[in-house]
Amino acid sequence: PAGTVRGVLDLDLPGPTISRHLYGHFAEHLGRCIYGGFFVGEDSPLPNEGGIRLDVVEALKALSIPNLRWPGGCFADEYHWRDGVGPREQRPTMVNSHWGDVVEDNSFGTHEFMALCELLGAEPYVSANVGSGTVKETSEWVEYLTRADDSPMARLRRENGRDEPWPVRFWGLGNEPWGCGGGMRAEFYADLARQFGTYSRNHGENRLYRIAAGAADADYHWTETLMKGLGHQLGGGAGRGWHGSGTYQAVSFHYYTVPGPWEHKGSATSFDTEEYYRTLHEAQRLRGILAGHAAVMDAYDPERHVGLVLDEWGTWFDVEPGTNPGFLFQQNTLRDALVAGVHFDAFHDHAERLVMANIAQTVNVLQAMVLTDGDAMVLTPTYHVFAMNQGHHDAQRLPLALRGVGSRGEGETQVELVSASASRKDDGVLVSLTNLDADGPVTVALDLRGAAVGDPVGQVLAAPDLRAHNTPESPDAVRPAPLEGLRLEDGTLTVELPAHSFATVRLTLQ
Ligand code: AHR
Repeated sequence: PAGTVRGVLDLDLPGPTISRHLYGHFAEHLGRCIYGGFFVGEDSPLPNEGGIRLDVVEALKALSIPNLRWPGGCFADEYHWRDGVGPREQRPTMVNSHWGDVVEDNSFGTHEFMALCELLGAEPYVSANVGSGTVKETSEWVEYLTRADDSPMARLRRENGRDEPWPVRFWGLGNEPWGCGGGMRAEFYADLARQFGTYSRNHGENRLYRIAAGAADADYHWTETLMKGLGHQLGGGAGRGWHGSGTYQAVSFHYYTVPGPWEHKGSATSFDTEEYYRTLHEAQRLRGILAGHAAVMDAYDPERHVGLVLDEWGTWFDVEPGTNPGFLFQQNTLRDALVAGVHFDAFHDHAERLVMANIAQTVNVLQAMVLTDGDAMVLTPTYHVFAMNQGHHDAQRLPLALRGVGSRGEGETQVELVSASASRKDDGVLVSLTNLDADGPVTVALDLRGAAVGDPVGQVLAAPDLRAHNTPESPDAVRPAPLEGLRLEDGTLTVELPAHSFATVRLTLQ
């Protein structure tokens, strides 16, 4: 058992801002993420607005999701936006060759996506097609979305029912160009990115935050090639401000938590303790990989003008038995919640460089927030971690050091048993704690320094079984409950964490 872990939390040393965009999302035309998940069509008996499912919107609004990436993923590099605007009955169909080889009817396109973002109160993050699209097509999409005057694309947008341009900031150029996005070498992509980035114009007051498509996992060569190859085109402006002067403001990378080999990743719900620890080991590897990309970027951009964006992360297991292998539908257990907790702590620790992260994917695909089944909708354990961590959005990171954290296992199952982070916004402090021990509780005793605080209030996400998950029949098998084991005495905050649990504690500065 992990026993007792001691630590120090400095309440009066606020560090960098934890961007709310670290809590970003991702929706691809993949399986039932868009169709059946977000979008059911206007004729659906389910409550909807313009075909967008309102129960899903309400659930996600409660998370204050800051941004939504679309239309892919791999799909982005075969998507031609002109096919998805205009009267729906006249839109051409296409084959979604990456995901299930199904026919896509383009009924969810640019206007529907922007309407979804407006309903969610989320900023759009659009991924343009570099793999099989043209520079002209990308250039015209920006014009269509963001131009106000009587330009050809603005006129076309008006003909399609939208007068005002939309504000669009986040603009991705391609996706996984080393793989499904074109099978390119980093050097080749860097040149293409310069070209596509150049013609992704700022129209009027709109300022794009252009994100070059990045590495897989620990491919630091890719990041270095972008930092060198995009050269003077990279630049985020003042500090790591969002409106930079260069052609590119950020580079991305992807990191998935996969416990087994690609051909047999492992079940989402049926796993033993060894497999659990292997999963959490993979999740904890992210911290080192973030440090690796950040170190490469520091060498070329010591003042941190360029942002790092992790625009796909999450667990990737075998699909649920009997479902389409190309739809990537998986259940979501308490294990997924702990993976999320570990990721957020690593994100907070890298807030100086990491400006955005997007979980893959928001609805019905991979590590989802929400699973739908016909008219039923369940919130996953991962959803609750996003909800409980909301206080970190745009808060300032606080230094939190733990000592005496136990670890278990060796090699591929080696895991640090406790993970934590803290932030401060106005007079509120939020501490997040994850106990990864599969078998035992842990006590965390934090010396609070630098300020006095009022009585702590806590929530805990736990369940008797690590494999616990929510279903339409049992929607609350895993849900937050008040955290009982919490005391503040002589400036020490003591938190009793049950086995395999995630908890948050709120403190108010006095
Ligand atoms: O999220 C599923 C897929 O994973 C994305 O389409 C792709 O970018 C990645 O390989």
